[in-house]
Amino acid sequence: MMLPRHVAITMDGNGRWAAARGAPRTAGHKAGLEAVRLCIKECSRLKIEALTLFAFSSENWRRPAEEVTTLMSLFVEALDRELDELHRQGVRLRFIGERGALAMRLQTRIAAAELRTAVNTGLKLQIAVNYGGRWDIVQAARALARDCAAGALRAADIDETRLASRLALAGLPDAELLIRTGGEQRISNFLLWEAAYAELYFCPRLWPDFEAADLAAALAFFAGRERRFGNTTAARTGAAGS
Ligand code: FPP
Repeated sequence: MMLPRHVAITMDGNGRWAAARGAPRTAGHKAGLEAVRLCIKECSRLKIEALTLFAFSSENWRRPAEEVTTLMSLFVEALDRELDELHRQGVRLRFIGERGALAMRLQTRIAAAELRTAVNTGLKLQIAVNYGGRWDIVQAARALARDCAAGALRAADIDETRLASRLALAGLPDAELLIRTGGEQRISNFLLWEAAYAELYFCPRLWPDFEAADLAAALAFFAGRERRFGNTTAARTGAAGS
């Protein structure tokens, strides 16, 4: 079966999962961690190159302060608790997003986790925290503008490759399969640039309920798609014009 090189997931539905149980929204986020663990394990097992998870968007700051605080604590706790195991699995962990706005204790752990796993050769795992696709493109544009201002780059030399090299996911293959749970069918400012040609898979299940069979269904969906990148089937298979 043809596997995607890079799977990206918008983990939606934690709040509704909790509400359905009469529990606080934060209980949904805690339950969601189990599904995170499972996806990491499965992607590692299948030797998928990269997995990127949308954990907290630039817009999520608008949520009630208590929920934001709990989410941030959850990230810190998850790092403290899971890092040994991730490292053992050979996972290379990176965070994408504007981290300057995060609590210092989270920033410290992020830096330590990235450093510790930097040379691992297993799954490339990206956690998007305080991330937005537009933010990423803006910060890349700013970096290129700085190079131009410093005389190191000419505006005419800016092309897709050069811009992509300044994005948070530089060096990784484009996202080939984008999964969103929770029933909404939106991109919500996730990987705007890197998902340009991604197959989109919407799963009605709420994130804490996402299980191995759901991931397998998403991968089977991907394998069944015909990826043409704007080309025609005939041209890609070489059948035309010969
Ligand atoms: C969206 O559900 C989910 C989030 C904003 C948080 C996702 C975070 C986790 C699953 C914890 C992951 C932790 C690590 C370390 C990766 P929602 O709250 O928008 O749900 P709703 O649409 O039902 O309200």
